Amino acid sequence: MDPAELKAIVRTIPDFPKPGILFRDITTLIAHGRGFAATIDRLVDRALMADASAVAGIEARGFIFGAAVAARLGIGFIPLRKPGKLPMPTIGVDYQLEYGEARLELDPGAVEDGEKVLLMDDLLATGGTALAAVDLLRQAGARVHHALFVIDLHELKGGHLLREEGLDVQAIMQ
Ligand code: PRP
Ligand code: HPA
Repeated sequence: MDPAELKAIVRTIPDFPKPGILFRDITTLIAHGRGFAATIDRLVDRALMADASAVAGIEARGFIFGAAVAARLGIGFIPLRKPGKLPMPTIGVDYQLEYGEARLELDPGAVEDGEKVLLMDDLLATGGTALAAVDLLRQAGARVHHALFVIDLHELKGGHLLREEGLDVQAIMQ
């Protein structure tokens, strides 16, 4: 499937979760067998360039794509979790969302000191979530130089924010 066909499978819902937000919904993409497989193929092609020893994915939708890519590459998956989910002592970072406030937590033992980690999520909007994730992974000792997304909402300038932090930012659709 070509990029335009894949993009057409993403559903757009106006005014969710708040008035004024045009929500790009990947539910329809992952429900489409060929579309989901083609999405993972394209992500794997980009992920290979990061030469990472693990993929870190952001709860919840980042788990869907990040875990699939990690399994295809035969490397580990590091879950970056919403607060209060992990049973062991965690490190955490608070951040702003396009539509609210949030926090990510990580088991620092999940990261090998100095290991190269590829950050993945379904969607890049303001970049606040991804930036918090990079911060957290670096606090845990990871080297993070690459961030990969299914969708980049280009007009919200998240890519700009991440590139200022020295990251290579890739997405398979805008
Ligand atoms: C969405 C999306 C990204 C983030 C992008 O997650 O999956 O993680 O927002 O926004 P930003 O670039 O402005 O930070 P959400 O917090 O809605 O969580 P979910 O995956 O649990 O639905
Ligand atoms: N769609 C899905 N997730 C999001 C969006 C969006 O438009 N903006 C921030 N997170």
